[in-house]
Amino acid sequence: MTEDRSDKPILNALRGKAIAPKPVWLMRQAGRYLPEYRELRSKASNFLELCLTPSLASEITLQPIRRFGFDAAILFADILLVPLALGQKVWFVEGEGPRLDPLSAAEVGRLSPRNIRTSLAPVFETIDRVKSNLTKSTTLIGFAGAPWTVATYMIAGRGSDDSAAARLFTYQHPKEFAQLLDILVEATIAYLIAQIEAGAEVLQLFESWAGTIPVNSLEVASLQPITKIIARIHKHTPTVPIIVFPRGAGANYPRYARETSATGISLDGHTTISPTDFPSTTVLQGNLDPLALIAGGAALDAAIDGILAQTQGRAHIFNLGHGVRPETPVEHVTQLVARIRDRRA
Ligand code: CP3
Repeated sequence: MTEDRSDKPILNALRGKAIAPKPVWLMRQAGRYLPEYRELRSKASNFLELCLTPSLASEITLQPIRRFGFDAAILFADILLVPLALGQKVWFVEGEGPRLDPLSAAEVGRLSPRNIRTSLAPVFETIDRVKSNLTKSTTLIGFAGAPWTVATYMIAGRGSDDSAAARLFTYQHPKEFAQLLDILVEATIAYLIAQIEAGAEVLQLFESWAGTIPVNSLEVASLQPITKIIARIHKHTPTVPIIVFPRGAGANYPRYARETSATGISLDGHTTISPTDFPSTTVLQGNLDPLALIAGGAALDAAIDGILAQTQGRAHIFNLGHGVRPETPVEHVTQLVARIRDRRA
């Protein structure tokens, strides 16, 4: 049976239409700021188990849709499931964040992208379950980390603000670094194609550490791998829209739009949306400061209105410049959705 996709606001925006009211979803819309998430979270022994248990992960994906009626649901999972499926040890320390056994240059050759589909089968089941529970107007977004961003965690064994370990690796082990990127490109393509086959309608690539890439490595470490991933996915499924989020890319932002064939570009909160910097065919997403969402009230309204004014008449999906923070009051999210839906022109 062919699906009627014409009434989905996110898909319409991604076809280049400036629709009113603007479609809206938020990065990290499922998570610790929601009491219903914290409740389910306590039922799993750890975060990875939550991601790999379809009954829980699908329920968590749907929680923010039920509460706020967002235009998109984003699969509840994590970018670090790919290193896990490649055979690296990954765990999450409560209240701190992810930990991995740091990957040495000698170990790169031992990673294998072949088992992605079987190791991550629970993720595809989650997608299937979510899909059968979404209303007709809600779009399901699948995602993966972009290779550089995933590599920063694999090499350092944890998050870091400056990606120092990965940067050093690019200088000291250029051959193994290229090999690691190739493995991540292949794994990410297999993972995302399986997500499409399970029911994901849009994909987002998180290049959350684009701002830390050494200048001379931007093309090799980020633009080229992302371009390859998009090209191969579009060869398989030409119509699937792909959004790229190169957080912190600064002056390099327009290159992601021009050089990768991304359908949409998600802007961080530090980047001024000046639609003329991007090709007119690039759909923009973003870029409210997550701290304005914590503040709420008149400051939140003013920040929302600023973005609506800057993107008037342009295909644009309202979102944050980065994820919802755990301390965000849920009423402020209600306020945000109401204000955006209020604008019909
Ligand atoms: O709602 C959604 O956006 C979907 C689910 C999602 C999660 N992580 C759930 C999550 C998505 C899309 C991600 C992506 C992700 N994961 C990124 C890229 C986006 C970004 O934030 O820059 C990165 C870098 C990761 C790796 C990761 N996962 C870190 C650094 C952390 C610790 C920081 C934190 O917020 O706790 C996580 C944990 C994580 N991923 C949580 C959630 C809901 C919190 C886990 C908990 O409940 O304790």
